[in-house]
Amino acid sequence: MSRVHEVVAPSNIALIKYWGKRDAERQLPANDSLSMTLSTACTRTTAQLAPRASLTSGTLALGGKAERHLAFLQESFGFTAPLAINTQNSFPAACGIASSASGLAALTVAALAAWTGANDFDELAVAGFPRPRLAELARQGSGSACRSLFGGYVHWRSKDQNVTSILPANHWQLADIIVLISDAPKPVSSTAAHAGAWSSPLFPPRLAGLSRRLDHVHQALQARDLEALGDAIETEALEMHAVMMTGSPAAHYLVESSSRLMAWIREERHAGRLPAWFTVDAGPNLHLICEAGAARAVAASVETAFPGTRLILDLVGDGPTLRTALHEAPR
Ligand code: DP6
Repeated sequence: MSRVHEVVAPSNIALIKYWGKRDAERQLPANDSLSMTLSTACTRTTAQLAPRASLTSGTLALGGKAERHLAFLQESFGFTAPLAINTQNSFPAACGIASSASGLAALTVAALAAWTGANDFDELAVAGFPRPRLAELARQGSGSACRSLFGGYVHWRSKDQNVTSILPANHWQLADIIVLISDAPKPVSSTAAHAGAWSSPLFPPRLAGLSRRLDHVHQALQARDLEALGDAIETEALEMHAVMMTGSPAAHYLVESSSRLMAWIREERHAGRLPAWFTVDAGPNLHLICEAGAARAVAASVETAFPGTRLILDLVGDGPTLRTALHEAPR
């Protein structure tokens, strides 16, 4: 029998975006970011010691990122034991949702648990990998992955790379209705597009105003003020896309349907019919943020106005889990 370490790590949606790196090698972001950890959109990764190394994936599209990250972990700590790793996303492959945040967070924890024999997060901490260390390592795989190590509302500070949960999930049950607009491959990978931020004339004014916006978003979360939060996150997402589109290389992630849906959300909201606000990452899919209690009605309105649209209903969540079970040893 062999021990299988299973991690379920959630995806997260940034309310204040990580966009642009001040040091790409060390994965240092240009600015602080603040996200909401999700619960439904997640990656389940298992790792166990095995005679031969293998990395299989049901639905994951991490490309070479997973292999590179494993090699980085192995070299950093001198772990030599081969691992059998399997990783699956809760959301369908190629649906256009980023898998790198949940994928790299899950991979980091699962691999280190298998190498150290840790059965839970407490044992991982004793083995030298407390949560902040795990976040630091996950960040090396993909920046946004460091926020997936924590539950609730999460702040990643650019000054010292400190990542903390600033409010627990039960402080405010917000929903994220993910509207799947396109599953076409990204025109420019987000890792490549980060580099273009510095050449955008809009980037310096963005950086200059971000800490104020972050404080505003933090206060809105604290006060459970959806209107204040919503207005700030829409401006934030649109500003990030303006930077993307005016940088070099320019990255256009929004498509016609994204813009049409944004305009519709604003119209409906102004008419008092839709208590939801949007945000968008490096892709065309919209994330509609609303109170959990309104999520079904918001989703139904979107389905009525845009028949055939694929939606994922998600909620703020508590962060990753790690558990161990005994299984037949791999051969
Ligand atoms: C738009 O974390 O995917 O989703 O560090 O190069 O892997 P790498 O980039 P990544 O960038 C995410 C950018 C974003 C905003 C965010 O999640 O904060």
